[in-house]
Amino acid sequence: MKRILVTGGAGFIGSHTCVCLLESGYEICVIDSLSHSNIKSLYQIKEIFLKKKINIKDKLKFFKGDLIDKEFIDSVFKKSKKENKPINGVIHFAGLKSVSESVLNPLKYWENNVFGSFNLIKTMLENNCTTIVFSSSATVYGNTSDSLIKESSKIQPINPYGSTKCAVENLLNDLFNTKKDEWRIAILRYFNPIGAHPSSLIGENPLQKPNNIFPLIINAAYEQKHLKVFGNDWPTHDGTCIRDYIHIMDLADGHIKALDYLISNNSQLINLNIGTGHGHSVLDLIKTFELINNVKVPFIFSNRRKGDVCKLVANNLRAKRILSWFPNRSIEQMCRDGWNWKMLNPNGF
Ligand code: WQD
Repeated sequence: MKRILVTGGAGFIGSHTCVCLLESGYEICVIDSLSHSNIKSLYQIKEIFLKKKINIKDKLKFFKGDLIDKEFIDSVFKKSKKENKPINGVIHFAGLKSVSESVLNPLKYWENNVFGSFNLIKTMLENNCTTIVFSSSATVYGNTSDSLIKESSKIQPINPYGSTKCAVENLLNDLFNTKKDEWRIAILRYFNPIGAHPSSLIGENPLQKPNNIFPLIINAAYEQKHLKVFGNDWPTHDGTCIRDYIHIMDLADGHIKALDYLISNNSQLINLNIGTGHGHSVLDLIKTFELINNVKVPFIFSNRRKGDVCKLVANNLRAKRILSWFPNRSIEQMCRDGWNWKMLNPNGF
């Protein structure tokens, strides 16, 4: 039974990935500072399995702490080793992820996302753990003219959030280039994860006012208070930005496929775009949400948001080919699952 350390495992993407890891037979140690997440997501993960009459109590351990504290990270590795269940690999989610917030507070993003990752990676090496799946982002591509973004598209982040993801990618590349026969590294560049687990027991649970569109659509529909659509003068079919929205469960599944691939193959570093390859505009998403959930989403148009790019859609052929990973949940399912999560948990966890 392999044991995987999941940083940020109580968060939106982390918690959904933990469900898939447990379903795939892994044991997990979750590290989370709970500054942007709620421990109740871990209780709900146990509930998901209890509903299937599976008790996962020994398979999911939680350690509260921050990656800024290297001693804390090392203590988790040492505890696992003492239990004779050393950590075999890491899925690294922990980090701040708001484009707009990063523009206002770049230092906070560099400290959390880069210094925290540095501490983690250094501690991994000191504990002979050299398998990592890193949560990167399509934001590293910045303003690209590529209609479908390949992994070989130019890396040119245009906001501090994207720059921090780029910095960690560079650190991993430098490390790999000095120890090619040791490291197994998968850099996953996410597009726009939305939706929720079909049980509606876990979902996106922003503790602060969300900056990203999907929870804002859900709140606008629930409270019937308008959201702002940032710009209707973009060069697209309806003037609003286009993104590659991917169901959180497809994204979680991509992590398991990447981890399995690393563990069962020789040391290597791979960059993979984790998106559906299909783009939807903000208005497309709003209209689909209204249609599927039979609810109105009030909105007004406002100015463009600093740091935004017009279109970000993945060419995901590499991930499909290398991982045999095929995202198959529709935008309608994303809208339905996201709304069901809200209906069952109006105040989140
Ligand atoms: C999507 C679209 C906005 C809010 C996000 C995360 C980033 C990364 C990629 C993981 C844009 C528009 C938004 C609003 C709006 N995820 N919008 N009104 O900027 O693509 O990046 O996904 O790595 O962490 O930030 O997502 O949801 O913020 O914006 O019109 O109130 O919705 O202009 O076109 P983005 P987003």
